[in-house]
Amino acid sequence: MASRFLILSVWSFFFFFFAVSQAQYYSGQQKVFDVRNYGARGDGRADNAFAFTKAWKEACQWSSGRSTVYIPLGIFYLRQVIFTGPCKNPITVIIKGTLLAPKNPNTIKQDEWILFKYVDNLTVTGGGLLDGQGYYSWPLNDCQKNPNCQPLAMNIGFAFVKSSRINGLRSINSKMGHINLFSVNDFNITGVTITAPGDSPNTDGIKIGKSKDMHISNVTIATGDDCIAILDGTTNLDISHVRCGPGHGISVGSLGRYKEEKNVQGITVRNSVFNGTTDGLRIKTWAKSISQISASNFLYENIQMINVGNPINIDQQYCPHGQCDGSGKYASHVQIKNVTYNNIWGTSTSKEALKMQCSQKFPCQDVELSDINLKYIGSDGFVTSLCINVVGGKVRGKMVPSDCKI
Ligand SMILES: *[C@@H]1O[C@H](CO)[C@@H](O)[C@H](O)[C@H]1NC(C)=O
Ligand SMILES: *[C@@H]1O[C@H](CO)[C@@H](O)[C@H](O)[C@H]1NC(C)=O
Ligand SMILES: *[C@@H]1O[C@H](CO)[C@@H](O)[C@H](O)[C@H]1NC(C)=O
Ligand SMILES: *[C@@H]1O[C@H](CO)[C@@H](O)[C@H](O)[C@H]1NC(C)=O
Ligand SMILES: *[C@@H]1O[C@H](CO)[C@@H](O)[C@H](O)[C@H]1NC(C)=O
Repeated sequence: MASRFLILSVWSFFFFFFAVSQAQYYSGQQKVFDVRNYGARGDGRADNAFAFTKAWKEACQWSSGRSTVYIPLGIFYLRQVIFTGPCKNPITVIIKGTLLAPKNPNTIKQDEWILFKYVDNLTVTGGGLLDGQGYYSWPLNDCQKNPNCQPLAMNIGFAFVKSSRINGLRSINSKMGHINLFSVNDFNITGVTITAPGDSPNTDGIKIGKSKDMHISNVTIATGDDCIAILDGTTNLDISHVRCGPGHGISVGSLGRYKEEKNVQGITVRNSVFNGTTDGLRIKTWAKSISQISASNFLYENIQMINVGNPINIDQQYCPHGQCDGSGKYASHVQIKNVTYNNIWGTSTSKEALKMQCSQKFPCQDVELSDINLKYIGSDGFVTSLCINVVGGKVRGKMVPSDCKI
């Protein structure tokens, strides 16, 4: 009897020991949540919003380790979706297949077709495709004429997202912009390809506002609007190895139009190529501005321009839709300061390859131009520049066009 009890206790002891060590093993375990197990169908027709959200919720609540939401090959129609955190652990979303947006823009009742919010340590990867099906809504877009036009959904958004990254993703034909970053912090984008026709309206590539500490590198962007649009409140953004064009270039602004805008500070653009864009490196502020903010500490370096409309362009007289009555009485309140252009070369399709039309009230300060070599491709004259209200600047090395007095 006693010996049987002893054997039993020994067994229980081992069993207990085993269970504890298993639990410890599982505590670092990662788990894959395949959307097919939640009813997702890659047939291009069924709405997968419910299945995706369910898979996300379980992955987000998985407390034993890293979790992965897996979207396999296939065409997954999606009406609209919001992936909300906070999650218990770092989370990865692998998109292998195509996510297909509704054709009718009114079907989407949020600012982004696919939105991530309040998430930390998120990775979106897999090289899959977001197809915004914008062809059907572009003809309805009247934003060029109507300043109060109805915004259409952007393809994907990240709001209040921290320590996260997109690594390998394709986005085509968004209804408006493609990737929207709002109030993100420590966020990286690499290996992303964004495409829409050069004449598609407002199809910005990457749009960033009120965000900080970001890296964008190795991206290819060809759209009908800005390749990258940097809006107010963006600080410490490092951009490199971008292939941009067609499109409107890498743009800071428009700044200054609204109350309570925040400064833009610490933007670097390096080792990039602009090909067939209307603008290259542009800073744009409203002539008729109410917020008194600054745009400072910018470095543009090692940039090739191929047939670019306005390779270098500071425009503080921006005032579309005839809102400034052409009288020239408005002067932007945005202070541009400490901007360096170093080693910018290539071809311009306009004679004025270098344009800096700064504010009369707040002239541009500490602008440095070094090793600029831009040629006009036309045969009706030579490359020139237009530099207004630029004070205390510096010119170094080669300087073509050579007539900018700063
Ligand atoms: C995110 O990662 C940081 C640093 O590794 C960690 O401190 C934090 O707890 C993580 N948060 C989540 C939700 O995983
Ligand atoms: C972003 O990239 C930078 C530079 O490579 C790196 O230091 C940082 O940790 C990255 N952050 C994330 C969230 O991946
Ligand atoms: C750049 O991104 C592409 C995908 O667009 C990828 O195939 C390639 O490996 C990346 N290159 C580097 C150097 O990371
Ligand atoms: C620039 O774009 C044109 C037209 O799309 C293309 O033919 C050419 O190869 C591109 N050049 C480079 C260097 O990418
Ligand atoms: C000017 O901007 C550069 C690039 O962002 C930065 O490294 C430098 O510290 C700035 N200089 C001043 C005086 O703020």
